[in-house]
Amino acid sequence: MGYIGSHTAVLLANSGHRVHIYDNLCNSNVGTLERIQKISSQKIGFTEGDIRDTEKLTNALRDEKIEAVIHLAGLKAVGESSQKPIEYYANNVQGSISLIQAMQAAGINTLVFSSSATVYGDPVYLPYDEDHPTKPTNPYGRNKLQVEEILRDLSVSDKAWKIACLRYFNPVGAHESGLIGEDPNGIPNNLMPVIGQVVNGKLLSLSIFGDDYDTPDGTGKRDYIHVMDLAEGHLAALSWLGSNPGCHTFNLGSGDSISVLDLLHHFEQASGQKIPYQVVGRRPGDLPEYYAKADKAEKVLGWKTQKKLSDICNSSWLWIKNSRQN
Ligand code: WQD
Repeated sequence: MGYIGSHTAVLLANSGHRVHIYDNLCNSNVGTLERIQKISSQKIGFTEGDIRDTEKLTNALRDEKIEAVIHLAGLKAVGESSQKPIEYYANNVQGSISLIQAMQAAGINTLVFSSSATVYGDPVYLPYDEDHPTKPTNPYGRNKLQVEEILRDLSVSDKAWKIACLRYFNPVGAHESGLIGEDPNGIPNNLMPVIGQVVNGKLLSLSIFGDDYDTPDGTGKRDYIHVMDLAEGHLAALSWLGSNPGCHTFNLGSGDSISVLDLLHHFEQASGQKIPYQVVGRRPGDLPEYYAKADKAEKVLGWKTQKKLSDICNSSWLWIKNSRQN
C-alpha cells in the first residue's frame, strides 16, 4: 500500500482485476486503503502482515484464491541500506524467499517482481539496456539483483513459473485524482518528496547534491517515470506472462534523462511555487546520469511511457497540496 503499490492497485482494480493487498504498513498507512478504494471501481481486500510470516502469507494467498502476485514489499532507500544492511537483506531477500515459499504452498506461479535500475551500478554505457553488466554499488541494489537471481534459478528448476523482473528507473508523479501519491514515513530520500516537504513547509529548502557533475547544468540527470506509467508496465507484464513462462527482465523507464534543476524549474512553473535551494556536496554513491533503453518493454510488452513532464509536475503539485491536510 506504498507509493507504487497504491497506484498499481488502483489501475489493476479499474482494469477489471480482483485485487488483494498484503502489507505490514512499515512504509505506508492504512488510511491509504480508503483513498485507494475511493478511486477504484471495485472493493480492494487487505490483510495486514509481514512478508516474512510465511504461514500467514500462505493462508492469505489460499483464502483469497490469489492467482498471481505483484511483489512490491521492499525497503528501498539506497543510503539507508548502507547503514542497515541486515534489515535490508532480511526484509528484501529473506522476505522474497518467504513469498516464493508461500506461493509454492498455495500453488501460485505467476509473479511480477519490483526490481530496480540500481542493479546496473556504474554505467559501462548509456542508456542501460537489460544486457548491461549488473554491478550494484550498495546493499539495496545487491538485494534486488540477488532476488532476480533467485527467481532465475527458480525458473530453471521449475519451468512452469511465469516471472517478470521490472527494473524501475525514477518513479515520480501521482494519480490524477490527487488522492494518492508518494507519502513516505519520516524524512524522504528521493527528490520529489523532498520538494513536496519544502513546499509544505516541513523543510526550509532543498539541498541539491552537487552541481559539479559532467552534465549541462552540473546537476545529476535521471530517467523520471510517471508512477501511473509504471503501474501500466505492471499490468502489461501481468497480462503478457499469462502465455509466457520463464523469467523475463524489463527496464521500465522513459528512455530520457533530465537534471535536478530542470525538474525543479518545471515544477516551479507547474505550481507557481518558488523552491528555495542551496547546492551542497555530492551524495555518496550518486551517479552523474543514468537512463533506460526501454525498447524491450515496448517490443515485447507493447508498453512505453505516455505521460509527459507536465503530467508529472501537475499531478505532484495536486498531491502535495492535498497531502497538506494529512
Ligand atoms: C534523484 C536526483 C540526487 C534528493 C533512487 C534509487 C533508485 C530508485 C529511485 C528504487 C539525484 C538529487 C535527491 C535531494 C538532490 N528507487 N537529489 N537532493 O538516487 O536517482 O534513485 O531512487 O528503486 O533505485 O537509487 O533518486 O530521487 O534520491 O535522486 O539533489 O534531497 O536528485 O543527487 O541526482 P536516485 P533520488
